[in-house]
Amino acid sequence: MGHHQELADTVEKLVQKGKGILAADESAPTIAKRFAAIGVESTEQKRREYRSLIFSTPELGDYISGVILYEETLNQKSLDNAPMAELLLRQGIVPGIKVDKGKGPLANAPGDEITFGLDGLEERLSGYRDQGARFAKWRNVYHITDTNPGALAIEANAEVLARYAAVCQSLGIVPIVEPEVLIDGYHTIEHCALVSEAVLRAVFAALHRHGVLLEGMLLKPSMVTPGKSHTSQAGPERVAEATLNVFRRAVPAAVPGIVFLSGGQTPEQATANLNAINQHGPQPWELSFSYGRALQEPAQKAWAGELDNGPAAQSAMHRRAKLNGAAREGHYSPDMEG
Ligand code: 13P
Repeated sequence: MGHHQELADTVEKLVQKGKGILAADESAPTIAKRFAAIGVESTEQKRREYRSLIFSTPELGDYISGVILYEETLNQKSLDNAPMAELLLRQGIVPGIKVDKGKGPLANAPGDEITFGLDGLEERLSGYRDQGARFAKWRNVYHITDTNPGALAIEANAEVLARYAAVCQSLGIVPIVEPEVLIDGYHTIEHCALVSEAVLRAVFAALHRHGVLLEGMLLKPSMVTPGKSHTSQAGPERVAEATLNVFRRAVPAAVPGIVFLSGGQTPEQATANLNAINQHGPQPWELSFSYGRALQEPAQKAWAGELDNGPAAQSAMHRRAKLNGAAREGHYSPDMEG
């Protein structure tokens, strides 16, 4: 493979100290849901306005190393008519791209799902590369119930993630491998730990089968937590301990970084949990964030669809990015919420 150095250079930028990744790659149906929550209709113009505002947040590059874009955004111009990727590059932020095509039922695996988008992936990726993308993201999901995820879902999803990652690396693009164990459900934290470990073991076995260079990828997992509807929730210390126990067992030390998703945690929970994880001292991997909702919710509320609220939205964005930048070093405290 001729891209080792390039992959290593991109990884190094993405896992810089004090910084993490902003996931702004909501698909059209997902961003419509987020906008509906603030009473805004999701039109092409509104999506452009909102994302352009967020990406021009002053000093965003002090805390954000990379932004994951949706294909539509990569093709859009900002409010000052620059390509969106250009806004990011101005702040030293690496542009990335979501490349999966969403999920649906996995045949013969009731309740389990599989992610689509391998057909034509290589061609799409070379186009995104020409537009400036240097890393990619692909998400697979696992539901927890008494019977899910089944063995078939664990194997099939791992295989798809590994095939995606191998294609990315063949083009010099860093793959973010995202196996998300969903937070929905009544399960215990112990149940989440068992599922997460089985999922990660299968993913790394598949990455090995497909010759994926571990040094040239990032893992984007969910933290180990109880289900959202479980009767008692776990504090940051318990989440940190359960998460690190699983990751130490299942994630090879050659992986340079683990960048967590927020997965339905509140912004404050996601920051406090990441902070507790980082307070456990040095680990083999950098431990950072790749949050969507936990970074953007306050900014979306402040914006509320009005361009005049731009400065308030940017200040909310700056604030969460800064707090997570601190949590990524274990330097956050809830007092900083003010
Ligand atoms: P959340 O942080 O909102 O879970 O989004 C991260 C993401 O990119 C999901 O694919």
